[in-house]
Amino acid sequence: MPEDDTGLASIGSDVLRLNRRKFVAASAAVGGTVAVIGALQGCTDEKIEQTDASTTVHVRINGEAHDVEVDNRTSLLDMLRERVGLTGTKKGCDQGACGACTVLVDGRRVLSCLMLAAQCEGREVTTIEGLSSEVELHPLQAAFVRHDALQCGYCTPGQIMSAVALLAEGRAGSDAEIREFMSGNLCRCGAYPNIVAAIGEVAGR
Ligand code: FES
Ligand code: FES
Repeated sequence: MPEDDTGLASIGSDVLRLNRRKFVAASAAVGGTVAVIGALQGCTDEKIEQTDASTTVHVRINGEAHDVEVDNRTSLLDMLRERVGLTGTKKGCDQGACGACTVLVDGRRVLSCLMLAAQCEGREVTTIEGLSSEVELHPLQAAFVRHDALQCGYCTPGQIMSAVALLAEGRAGSDAEIREFMSGNLCRCGAYPNIVAAIGEVAGR
């Protein structure tokens, strides 16, 4: 596709001098297309050439400090699985629709396929591997086993991480509330009744 067919014609002549590779790299570096348009207007090509396509993320994962070099476009999910070797977090849809990739960032649940690794600079990430000690399962993990709250298990890490946050949020007052606040986590095996029962038990109901 010719560069002037990219839909960027209205942005300005400085941006039009970018080729596609430079534009994508620069977009990722500042976290979004809107921001990059503002940042690039008035920039020289020389400045754009200096845009680094990779970054070193200083992040704590499951209590351990990590310095991870990643391409600026790398998602948190891909960083965890491919750079840090924590494959417990699952890739389902890779577009924010299934919840399989749920992890905690600073104690709040996030879809790691929708978060850039670079956004985790200085933050604390908790994955399913960080829940249990070497000798004991997390109470939710144990309850999922007791209630047979899984079949294939693919969605389970995301379900459990979401449930950890749900309990911390105080959203387990009833089965209906659990269903509502777990609704972003899909289970193709249909283990929903058992998942709700497991969470309800840990919530003390
Ligand atoms: Fe992230 Fe599906 S893999 S929401
Ligand atoms: Fe198979 Fe949930 S246990 S997708």
